[in-house]
Amino acid sequence: MKYTSQAVAKPYFIFALILLAGEILFGLLMSVQYVYGDFLFPLIPFNVLRMVHTNLLIVLLLFGFMGATYYLVPEEAERELWSPKLAMVTFWVFVVAGVATILGYLFVPYATLTEITFNELLPTMGREFLEQPLPTKVGIVLVVVSYIVNVSMTVLKGRRTVITTVLITGLLGLAVFFLFAFYVPDNLIMDKFFWWFTVHLWVEATWELIMGAILAFVLIKVTGVDREHIDKWLYLIIAMTMVSGILGTGHHFFYMGAPEYWLWIGSISSAVEPLPFFLMILFAFTMARDRKIKHDNEIALTWAKGTAVMAFIGAGVWGFFHTLAPVNMYTHGTQLTAAHGHLSFYGAYIMIVFTVVSYAMPILRGRPHGNCEKAQKVELTSFWMMNIGMMGLTLALSAAGLVQIFDSRVGTDLIGFMESAESISSIFMIRAGFGLLVFLGLLTYFYSFFVKEEA
Ligand code: HEM
Ligand code: HEM
Ligand SMILES: [Fe+2]
Repeated sequence: MKYTSQAVAKPYFIFALILLAGEILFGLLMSVQYVYGDFLFPLIPFNVLRMVHTNLLIVLLLFGFMGATYYLVPEEAERELWSPKLAMVTFWVFVVAGVATILGYLFVPYATLTEITFNELLPTMGREFLEQPLPTKVGIVLVVVSYIVNVSMTVLKGRRTVITTVLITGLLGLAVFFLFAFYVPDNLIMDKFFWWFTVHLWVEATWELIMGAILAFVLIKVTGVDREHIDKWLYLIIAMTMVSGILGTGHHFFYMGAPEYWLWIGSISSAVEPLPFFLMILFAFTMARDRKIKHDNEIALTWAKGTAVMAFIGAGVWGFFHTLAPVNMYTHGTQLTAAHGHLSFYGAYIMIVFTVVSYAMPILRGRPHGNCEKAQKVELTSFWMMNIGMMGLTLALSAAGLVQIFDSRVGTDLIGFMESAESISSIFMIRAGFGLLVFLGLLTYFYSFFVKEEA
């Protein structure tokens, strides 16, 4: 570790990984409910499991991004973090708020939760991913603002690099677009517009900047390639992201009551969105080919390359499947959407967190050369278990989506939703199986932290 304040990243990483275990566990429970409808009834209903699953996902990614930032910013800025104390205070505030919110979801009926958390003052609850009670939302804003101040002060007082500029732009975007979560218009069409302004502009614009910056940082460290070379790639990727991603929001406005011109704007702009993800593959593999050093932490480079590939498949390929208006007319809101939702979130954002943890954690634990060979082997096993598991889960959901589409949407001899669901229950069993593989992969990953070199 070059700067002692980088150590604040460690609790963020650890907590993110704990939340990930929770997220996947809740996903597994849900996948059992999909097959056995009364599983856990009436203890935890599906909608509660789902809310916990997706909210843990968002919160763990925020913890992961913060950990990554606190680790890389001092090294980029060539000075200590502006206030490590503030970073630790916000860590604990966020932990307490996050845990309280999840416990609230689990033990208090959602309707009661809205009453006791002042939702009537400013109604914000009830929208997917943004279900958090008002005090939690305000807490998120405070945590994120303090985080951005801390990072910006560090960078302003130190060396400025393309990586930190891109990163801070992404963080500002993350903060600004979250503000739309506080506005819920009564008109359902307007409501959807504003909901997507947060959700889409996060995952397909601002978070991509954060991802690009973290990926570039790790690649510089493990390949030793010149910064100038990497900067050019980063500029290109970011420009492509912005050009396609912002108007690309239109791919959510096709059939929700918005004007027809969105069919064209949404289809054309979002059709370009896979390109920046493809560039990230070229970027990662070119850097790996031209590398000037052979870092002992080889698994970190494997994760970096894996992230680029899986993000492209999940976001680029599976996103493209249903992004053209004439196709989306048939696929909208089917299991194909869930298939894409899983592989994109996992491939881009969960994996970039694994990448930075894999690079930084050994250093934070006093192992500048990475973990021992044996531990890296175990980690590589977990890499494949999780990737194969997520890919299998995605293929299963895609098959389920195709059956749904042909059962109920194409042609004239159509069957109802529940009848169609019955015909795909065996596919949901397969999904649960691959989900279990993902969970076991994560446990294997945790185990790799404790593997020691033989004496
Ligand atoms: C890492 C980046 C991405 C993430 C995390 C992501 C995630 C998601 C999620 C979770 C949904 C479902 C939202 C819901 O209705 O509940 C969704 C929908 C959608 N995504 Fe993505 N996405 C990403 C990138 C892309 C890209 C690059 C494209 C196009 C090339 C795309 C096209 C779509 C479309 C068309 C829908 C709407 C599906 C429907 O009508 O049901 N996504 N995305
Ligand atoms: C890190 C890995 C995972 C990520 C990033 C993730 C992400 C997501 C997202 C974004 C959604 C909302 C999808 C949408 O609305 O289109 C979702 C829902 C869901 N996830 Fe996951 N998930 C993960 C792992 C799992 C696992 C391992 C399982 C279990 C096999 C699982 C089961 C489910 C189920 C059953 C739903 C509800 C789908 C529905 O509403 O019908 N997830 N997950
Ligand atoms: Fe989108």
